[in-house]
Amino acid sequence: MELSSTSKRPLHAMASSSLNARLLIPMFLLFFWQSSNPSSAIDSISLSQSLSGDQTIISSEGNFALGFFAPAGNPSNFYAGIWYNNLSGNRTVVWVANRACPISNTSAAEFKISEAGNLVIVNSSGAAVWSSNSTPSTLNASVAVLLGTGNLVLKDDLNSSTILWQSFDHPTDTWMPGGWLGVNKRTGEYQSITSWASPVDPAPGPFAQSMDPDGSDQYVLLWNGSEIYWNSGLWNGQYFTAVPGTKESTAFNFTFVDNPDRKFAMYTINDPSFLTRFVVDSAGQGQQWFWLNATQEWQTVFTQPLVHCDVYSLCGPFGICSQRNTSVCSCPIGFAPTSTQEWQINDWNSGCTRRTRLHCGNKSSDGFLVMPNVRLPANSVRILTATSSTNCKAACLNNCSCSAYSYDNGCSIWGDDLRNIADTGGGILYIRLAASDLPATSNSSHKSTIGIILGVAFGVLLVLVVLFALIWIPRRRKRTHITEQVDDSSLVQFSYGELQRVTRNFSRKLGGGGFGNVYRGTLPDSTEVAVKKLEGQRQGEKQFRAEVSTLGTIQHVNLVRLRGFCCHRDERLLVYDYMPGGSLDSHFSESNIAVLDWKLRYRIILGVARGLAYLHGSCRECIIHCDVKPENILLDENFDPKIADFGMAKLIGRDFSRVLTTMRGTVGYLAPEWISGLPVTPKVDVYSFGMMLFELVAGKRNSIVRGNDGVDKFYPSWAAKQVIDGSVESLLDDRLEDAPEIEELTRVCRVACWCIQDSESQRPTMGQVVRILEGSLEVSRPPLPLAMQSLMEVAGQVKFQISSTDSSATVATNTYEESSTIHGR
Ligand SMILES: *[C@@H]1O[C@H](CO)[C@@H](O)[C@H](O)[C@H]1NC(C)=O
Ligand SMILES: *[C@@H]1O[C@H](CO)[C@@H](O)[C@H](O)[C@H]1NC(C)=O
Ligand SMILES: *[C@@H]1O[C@H](CO)[C@@H](O)[C@H](O)[C@H]1NC(C)=O
Ligand SMILES: *[C@@H]1O[C@H](CO)[C@@H](O)[C@H](O)[C@H]1NC(C)=O
Repeated sequence: MELSSTSKRPLHAMASSSLNARLLIPMFLLFFWQSSNPSSAIDSISLSQSLSGDQTIISSEGNFALGFFAPAGNPSNFYAGIWYNNLSGNRTVVWVANRACPISNTSAAEFKISEAGNLVIVNSSGAAVWSSNSTPSTLNASVAVLLGTGNLVLKDDLNSSTILWQSFDHPTDTWMPGGWLGVNKRTGEYQSITSWASPVDPAPGPFAQSMDPDGSDQYVLLWNGSEIYWNSGLWNGQYFTAVPGTKESTAFNFTFVDNPDRKFAMYTINDPSFLTRFVVDSAGQGQQWFWLNATQEWQTVFTQPLVHCDVYSLCGPFGICSQRNTSVCSCPIGFAPTSTQEWQINDWNSGCTRRTRLHCGNKSSDGFLVMPNVRLPANSVRILTATSSTNCKAACLNNCSCSAYSYDNGCSIWGDDLRNIADTGGGILYIRLAASDLPATSNSSHKSTIGIILGVAFGVLLVLVVLFALIWIPRRRKRTHITEQVDDSSLVQFSYGELQRVTRNFSRKLGGGGFGNVYRGTLPDSTEVAVKKLEGQRQGEKQFRAEVSTLGTIQHVNLVRLRGFCCHRDERLLVYDYMPGGSLDSHFSESNIAVLDWKLRYRIILGVARGLAYLHGSCRECIIHCDVKPENILLDENFDPKIADFGMAKLIGRDFSRVLTTMRGTVGYLAPEWISGLPVTPKVDVYSFGMMLFELVAGKRNSIVRGNDGVDKFYPSWAAKQVIDGSVESLLDDRLEDAPEIEELTRVCRVACWCIQDSESQRPTMGQVVRILEGSLEVSRPPLPLAMQSLMEVAGQVKFQISSTDSSATVATNTYEESSTIHGR
């Protein structure tokens, strides 16, 4: 951790040498500063003064400093900038003046107001490397003041309402509270923020956040000023639609202004002691950070795009972005990093370069490298005339600037640079390489003969296949037909009397729920079943049958199988496979001696994730479970998990949400958007799944727990905090005998924490969750869910009290209270 003398011992701005008396001031100020009276620090530079070397000016509140600095990890380049003055750890720079023109020596360099009234940086040889280029004061009385917001303002000392220039009008990569981003309609100039080129180089990088250049009322993240890879959603009067968290938050106030002069948005914070900033980082992600006093670290509350490979061209030309590997970018075979030095500091913009140049004129000297399962690069050109893979390949070979092709229901070729390739996707890309760079097996001189042989073999094979198909398919079709019938009729329709006998007149109750009681039964062939008597069912018989037959087709190893149904007058019953392992919640009770071991828990977690992913994406119609909780996870005789009660939303219809919200015990799993009445997406299941994960890790129900400090906290919010702090072990059930590997535990806990993010767009999909749990997708450290109680506690001074006027938030508090009465011990 680099901590320069500047931020440790602020040596405040010195007066110019012409005023000897001022030499005393720094010591004087230092004294005051340490006796916690920051208001007397020098916070301004006037015409005759300058900063050089280690000298800084400090805002009057003491929270920001301005001076020269060298980025951590790049000690020979100096920049003038503004940073947080008294935070521990690495200096957090919020603004840089000469971002593209570093100076090598600060002892003779000066940051000052020029004779013309501009702010300038003059290097040791007296040349100006940066200027504010502002309209100078006519009165020769410019003064630059560093405000408590982190804004450096150049103004006319004689008329303080005249602002000649301010750093908030020229942000670098950081959007501060009180600053604005938008467009000046009169000049057409956009005020945006641009990433640093690398973590150690403030020069403008390729990524920026800007008001939509096409004129719509939203923000976009842009690569090279042209490719949009994320947008905030339109401003709807209250918030940007893709960032709904901003509406719920009581910490931030967003305003959007559209007047004849400017269109812009800005945000403010209600409590100035809450430190927060929005940054587009050098990897292209837009992140809102806040300072967590408890850990003395910056934490993200918002990150977009969530997946770093969604950042356009993150790995530069020909670079491959990997969601799986720890090294984000790599080069294909036949390519090498353009700049190893830059790649070492995680600056991949220069991408990859061919090891050997292509020989354009001589077609036979170039070949193609096959890359299966990739996300195809951006900006392809469709070749409509090429109607086969061979034609497509030829089209590419005939075009000197073609560097790759792909054939999938049509021919696409790519020009010089391939950008945005990722290692996860369904495309097959053929990258053109010089023959000498191709892997040894595909020797181009033998290629044509091999091609002919293959072609012939393929032709023969095709004939055989056709013949075979002609003979065999009619039979097979009959068979499939039969299975389909079996499938359809596999859903048995029971009579009410039958089910009465099966369940011994509904005498063996297995459980109850919002949708009705469940009874154990034994079919005549002694198969055990669970019979659910639906309540609150108003559907007609026809609709019920339709829904049930859909449900009957949904089969997955991690879903409880529906065997049959019964429709008798007003009674609606469903017959399921019986699960001897009982429901997951029964294994949480302290009286249950046999504690589920970790291996089993992990298997259960993965199984449930797979079942939900299937419901959400893989079956014909997306099914949102809406009521994921341990009571609805059943275990079979091998303790494999099966999700019960899916499809209820369709069977119960409009009453569903009422049933859910009045059902005590379920509310703790309800995503915020459920409670606030927003449309429900599969992400509500993701949220509930996350809540359940915490319970599985801890081996007990989520409840209000009393912390060491005597303050009551909702368990998941406390747990989320532990995950972010990296102390996941503290969450683990201490009854476990097989402690998991820390890596596996971290993965589960991070997933849980991502799943319970307030904004549904920040939560992963169940498909992503499965991939993370299977280990094929990395999971980064999650941000703290903003609405969570923990933030109200740890951020201390911040008043995150939920206002009583916000009805949705009030409901949310109630739910936490309710869950305390239900699960409180
Ligand atoms: C500080 O910066 C250095 C160099 O970039 C980095 O290695 C280190 O992890 C940083 N420390 C913290 C606490 O971020
Ligand atoms: C401001 O100061 C500069 C240099 O000191 C001088 O040349 C100029 O005439 C002054 N302008 C006014 C309006 O006093
Ligand atoms: C101060 O500046 C404002 C805005 O530039 C101007 O309207 C006002 O007349 C000035 N006042 C004086 C005393 O010069
Ligand atoms: C980036 O943008 C500049 C200016 O619009 C353009 O000239 C250049 O071709 C772009 N680069 C790429 C690789 O698209």
